[in-house]
Amino acid sequence: MCNNDLFCGVNSAQSTDIAEMSDLEKKHTPVIEAPGTVKKEEAFVVTVEVGKLLTHPNENGHYIEWVELYSGDTFLARTDLVPRLTSPKVSFTVALDHEHPLMVKARCNMHGVWKSFPHRITVE
Ligand SMILES: [Fe+2]
Repeated sequence: MCNNDLFCGVNSAQSTDIAEMSDLEKKHTPVIEAPGTVKKEEAFVVTVEVGKLLTHPNENGHYIEWVELYSGDTFLARTDLVPRLTSPKVSFTVALDHEHPLMVKARCNMHGVWKSFPHRITVE
């Protein structure tokens, strides 16, 4: 069944309350750090970390393969990672001309694709 298949579709935490999240959700939900307000077309930094809520393994058999950043449904950037030599904490420099919530997808080789909670951003 799809519902029990981590490799079907995109996984997401069922609650935004960390106290209610499972360990699997805490390990895989990407966390976005970015300003709440930015100036139109002015560069700012978005930092993404997978395993911030609970450390995710980073070894040859189990690691985060990639991280992608979106503005709404619009793809902005992607970083591919290797285990041990890199960590799933990455920064992107972006400049937006209008606003959609930032969103991140990240893929674990053992537990599939996970998305972040949307990060609301105001473009002035
Ligand atoms: Fe995993």
